[in-house]
Amino acid sequence: MKKVITYGTFDLLHFGHVNVLQNAKKLGDYLIVGITSDDFDKRRGKLNVKQSLSERIDAVKKLGIADEIIVEEYEGQKIDDIKKYDVDIFTVGSDWVGKFDYLNEFCKVMYLPRTEGISSTQQRNANSLRLGIVGEVSYIHKYVAESKVVNGLELVGICAKSTRNFPDEILSFVSEKAYEDFLDDVDAVYVASQPKYHFEQISLALKKGKHVLCESPIALTQQQCTQLFDLAKQRGCILMESIKTAYSVAYSRLLLLAKMGEIGDVVSIDATCTSLMDKKQNQLDYEWKSLYAWGPTAMLPVFQLLGTNFVHKNIATAYIDKKQKFDAFTNVNFIYKNAVANVKVGKGVKSEGELIISGTKGYIYVPAPWWKTDYFEIRYEDSSKNKRFFYQLEGEGIRHQFVTFVKSIELGLNVSYIDNEISQAIAGIVQDFEDKKDLYTIEI
Ligand code: CTP
Repeated sequence: MKKVITYGTFDLLHFGHVNVLQNAKKLGDYLIVGITSDDFDKRRGKLNVKQSLSERIDAVKKLGIADEIIVEEYEGQKIDDIKKYDVDIFTVGSDWVGKFDYLNEFCKVMYLPRTEGISSTQQRNANSLRLGIVGEVSYIHKYVAESKVVNGLELVGICAKSTRNFPDEILSFVSEKAYEDFLDDVDAVYVASQPKYHFEQISLALKKGKHVLCESPIALTQQQCTQLFDLAKQRGCILMESIKTAYSVAYSRLLLLAKMGEIGDVVSIDATCTSLMDKKQNQLDYEWKSLYAWGPTAMLPVFQLLGTNFVHKNIATAYIDKKQKFDAFTNVNFIYKNAVANVKVGKGVKSEGELIISGTKGYIYVPAPWWKTDYFEIRYEDSSKNKRFFYQLEGEGIRHQFVTFVKSIELGLNVSYIDNEISQAIAGIVQDFEDKKDLYTIEI
């Protein structure tokens, strides 16, 4: 009996898939189809597969072409499968020509003609979400680049007050339209403007029925933040706060480990984020005060692990200017019933950007810059028990954040990694900072 094997993701099954499976079957007597697992797809950069593994298996099964279906879970599995199932022919579509020649050592490799004019990617993009960006954050080009690799998302333009600092590669996206008209061309908007414009720009977008992803902080007062979430709900729109660290794989894993009790009870969190401004900073950087630029990221592990019901907090700030408009350095101290936390941020002071989560059994140590890490350690009294964790960081979390945004819109359900109450707590700290409540000024 001649055994044939083929592999694929088979997302949103289409006639290209049917053709390749029928042709593969004709090459022998018994066809084994390997379907990639969700994890394996993510690791090889296929992030936007729409259907789950079981849905994809069911769809291929229903065709009745495969004699056996297996799951492909790891790099190098093809060789193991060929040996295990005593396979005579390995085959895939011609888009892979040459890629699998190395398998010739184990069985015959054949490439089948690919069906023209159809692909899963094309199907996924058929109903792409039209995204607009409003604003001019200094890392806007990263968002433009990442939007291109997320299926189901199409960047249609950028509406900015000033394009002076834009790199050339994004200038072609700049729209001439005023924000209100610009909104008519999009389904969703990423608000990357100065925080003082957030409330107004988000309100306008939501009132026009557009979904919103907004750079943190969403608003400068807690009340405004709550108002925006209420408005989003009323209009049936998704409003998501953007803090890319929340979507970094290493960060999500360490959060999970801490919540599972890996270091015992969490008793203290120290989070530091700094980035020195250079002398030639423009006005824009002064709009992103240290607390605005770094506070939300640094407060994220505190609120995600200890909650937002702290019993006491104080803010210590060092201003750079006489008018007390810009903080060079801000320290926020939180006291909870069973824990404490310290958050240090600065654009005029430099420090080690590390994260330490201390517990009754051990601690999690994330080296600088912890907010975009691919590595962390769990350390114990007995250092031989220490564990090290490595995770691939793709697109600094921006990519996964976009994927989550698109998914939320499709589901009509906010599946953001940041709860609304955390967004509200962040806005509350920003508000107290502006109102100088529980705030002490230090001179440096
Ligand atoms: N295939 C084909 N003709 C197409 C699309 C896919 O012959 N038009 C074949 C591929 O060569 C592969 C198998 O179908 O052998 C499974 O491919 P898969 O990657 O799952 O499908 P694509 O439509 O190519 O998916 P994507 O757009 O995500 O790359």
